Amino acid sequence: MKVAVFDTHKFEQKAFSEQLKSFPSLEFKFLEPRLTSQSVSLAVGCEAVCAFVNDKLDATTLAELKRLGIKAIALRSAGFNHVDLNAARELGLAVMRVPAYSPYSVAEHAVALLMTLNRKLHKALPRVRDLNFSLEGLVGFDLHGKTVGVIGTGRIGEAFARIMCGFGCRVLAYDKFPNEPLAEELKIQYVGLDELLSESDVISLHLPLTAETHHLIDAKAMSRLKSCAIIVNTGRGALIETHALINALKKQTIAGACLDVYEVEEGVFFNDLSESGIDDDLLARLLTFPNVIMTSHQAFLTNEALHNIAEQTLQNLVSFESGKTINSVL
Ligand code: NAI
Repeated sequence: MKVAVFDTHKFEQKAFSEQLKSFPSLEFKFLEPRLTSQSVSLAVGCEAVCAFVNDKLDATTLAELKRLGIKAIALRSAGFNHVDLNAARELGLAVMRVPAYSPYSVAEHAVALLMTLNRKLHKALPRVRDLNFSLEGLVGFDLHGKTVGVIGTGRIGEAFARIMCGFGCRVLAYDKFPNEPLAEELKIQYVGLDELLSESDVISLHLPLTAETHHLIDAKAMSRLKSCAIIVNTGRGALIETHALINALKKQTIAGACLDVYEVEEGVFFNDLSESGIDDDLLARLLTFPNVIMTSHQAFLTNEALHNIAEQTLQNLVSFESGKTINSVL
């Protein structure tokens, strides 16, 4: 089966190429462009497409894929908020994902962001390179003993909570489906969302983006946060209402934000725009705050995660080829 792989990066191509030998029935066509209604024709001659988080699988793109003879879509991600599932269902397209590849990769990146902002490493490292050895303005706080609110205690939230417990934090959790054995094992407490927001020194988001979780952290939720609170988002950008975040940062009603995802990251993240600049004023404003750090949706980016994503995606495709759809999101 011939597969058009959109939005391919070198690091993924390497991970896939290493494993493709074990899947001789699959032929991969690696493409650099993101999958959109403009680039969809690149899939001509293929029976499946392989897509990443910023590919735009809306109704128009899906209809065109169907017209080109595409039967299956293999997502190289756990999240599937970028796919119009109703349209895919109606068109009879199979949509598969990689539900779990390394929760540690994302949880550990969330911790790296938190520690960077808290201990002001983003300021300290360039300062020392510039032979400025002053410590002024670099005071952080001990995480030990602080209250950390984990919103979403699935695979990634659990891994994050375990690390925070190791730091000696008091962990509060919120999830639609509380994991009681985990709470018992880690001695963490499930509370309501409002209580978590108003009690936590650190809030970390580990939820999927759905209609229900869209703008979960809006102006009202933001107003409940402590002024010393740091918010960490490695989930999906639209879990936070960006306007509300910017207002809170401007009014200094929160202490900072660590972001790996952004509400409108498509077309920006994963691209080198250092020559052209960006035309998103909200993103530009966010990047001016000294207490905001941002990475470009890289929390998943470890060798282990890339290996597992490639392996599971290839297995999803060969299963589909043999008539059995696994890891379907429909
Ligand atoms: P998971 O499915 O294991 O856990 C999600 C948790 O959220 C579940 O416990 C579920 O009960 C809870 N939940 C869902 N809807 C809820 C609601 N409305 N209210 C309260 N709780 C709700 O997912 P996993 O693997 O932990 O991933 C979480 C998210 O992280 C993914 O959906 C994805 O968007 C994001 N992610 C980000 C990556 C990155 O590179 N930045 C990489 C991988 C995932």
